[in-house]
Amino acid sequence: PALERWVDEVPRPGVVDPTDEKDGQPYYEIEMTEIEQQLHRDLPPTTVWGYDGQFPGPTIEARQGEPIYVRWQNKLPDEHLLPVDTTIHSDIIPYETPGVRTVTHLHGGNIESESDGKSQAWYTRDFAATGPEFEQKDYYYVNDQPAATLWYHDHALSITRLNVYAGLAGFYLLRSDEEDALELPQGEYEVPLVLQDRSVTDDGSLFYPAAIADEQSGRGKSHPEPSIVPEFYGDTSVVNGKAWTRLSVDPTTYRFRLLNGSNSRYYTLTLLEYDESTGKTGNEGPALVQIGNDGGLLAEPVPVDDRLEIGSGQRADVVVDFSEYAGETLLLHNDAPALYRGDMSSADDDIVPLHEILLVDVADGSGAADGSGAEDATGGTTEESEAAPEGTTEAVPNELAHVPEISLEDVDTKRYLTLTADEDEHGRMVHLLGTEDEPDGLAVDDPVTEEPTVGDTELWSFANLTDMSHPMHLHLVHFQLLGRQPLGEYQSTEDELDLDALESPKAYEQGWNDVITVHPAEVVHILVHFGEYEGVFNDQTGMYMWHCHMVEHEDYDMMRPFAVRPASE
Ligand code: C2O
Ligand code: CU
Repeated sequence: PALERWVDEVPRPGVVDPTDEKDGQPYYEIEMTEIEQQLHRDLPPTTVWGYDGQFPGPTIEARQGEPIYVRWQNKLPDEHLLPVDTTIHSDIIPYETPGVRTVTHLHGGNIESESDGKSQAWYTRDFAATGPEFEQKDYYYVNDQPAATLWYHDHALSITRLNVYAGLAGFYLLRSDEEDALELPQGEYEVPLVLQDRSVTDDGSLFYPAAIADEQSGRGKSHPEPSIVPEFYGDTSVVNGKAWTRLSVDPTTYRFRLLNGSNSRYYTLTLLEYDESTGKTGNEGPALVQIGNDGGLLAEPVPVDDRLEIGSGQRADVVVDFSEYAGETLLLHNDAPALYRGDMSSADDDIVPLHEILLVDVADGSGAADGSGAEDATGGTTEESEAAPEGTTEAVPNELAHVPEISLEDVDTKRYLTLTADEDEHGRMVHLLGTEDEPDGLAVDDPVTEEPTVGDTELWSFANLTDMSHPMHLHLVHFQLLGRQPLGEYQSTEDELDLDALESPKAYEQGWNDVITVHPAEVVHILVHFGEYEGVFNDQTGMYMWHCHMVEHEDYDMMRPFAVRPASE
């Protein structure tokens, strides 16, 4: 039976406190464990994996200029909760080793390589077994980059999709004095929302496919069982760990920290007027106004025209003014079909539709906050907060942050990189990343081919040779989108780049990004500076990863290393 929608209030993830100090800095010990958590009023508790006993994990509140240490403790059972395909990279992964491999990556962190949570730096329970790139137990996060919505999640080689789906992800909010001075909506009026899709069986178990569906398998070859699937799409919207939730707001301005924490799914979002009794959507509701992207605040607020597109791993920092919508019900609506191709999307691609994401209930203004107290992760109600500023809109400043622009003229090195696919020996699809010399793709364990020098600026041009959109992510750095153009107009780094021919960035692509979407038959150009840039970010060197953030693709095999070399080498 279908779950009744909009019965549970959206929870707010708890905030974790440091356990101790190390070298005079806050030290956190955060355990990964198997837990039971109720995902919906009418479901029995679901077995999931959480950090610190919660799914999603607790929010880490960090401040610019205040480094922290975190020890991510693996306390998971010996057996995986979900079907593990042992044929992927069986030459470099010891699948027979007991225990579940995990490693936590701070996504968007400008951090030292030893603390980056690379996919081969995995470890099992109590560090009993460790991967070839494991270096240290305590991770150091220097926190000297601009304030931003970061997140942490599991990154273990070739089981990232399963570990993340089981629940291993959470927010990491980096704040700064500059950001505080803007007096953006805060406290009850600042809401982190992680959007995920899940499939849950009637007994409350998390469902993840163990085999490729017939329509996805093609060629009639026999696949290993269990087998990785090319993409995963769940039929249930889960926000902050609850299915089909409602968010009660006052008729004032809110800041939403949106995170796409789904495995493969894209969202293209709008707020629509909604009639709860008929389930029908109406006119457009309030605008989503973008104030920040993956790497921090934009120079100024930009209203999203049309839809807010957010691919797996991406964050959107938006403000919404509900003051004109007192007493109304709105729906956070998704237009993206499950198999997303950007502008070329069609209903035929909607293999697992998910259009209703979150119900938003706007209080009617008089006695606004009554009965709408947001629940915290433990099910309690937050204490009575000060009443909303009466009928007023907390204005968001017109100038938010200084975002220095990287220019094409600064470029030292150009790279032409392909997004492609092939078939493996079992007749399954394997997604790959390639280079100008190896356009058909390289494996994650092939030798490193991208070796920027710290202090250099590079132009990375992603050419998508596949028939779907991919959210491309670089660790360590934040980059700027130069623009996009049709495949074929730019075919190699020798080609002249005609700036006038490029489609320019949308609101959700401006400023600092660490994930960028590349649609099919398109080349996307990004400007990447390695190292400190006009006082922003820092000079880390060493090994990092770049990959597609659809985690099924990342696992098989759309991930490659890059190495930042010191300037003197
Ligand atoms: Cu959010 Cu390498 O990943
Ligand atoms: Cu992909």
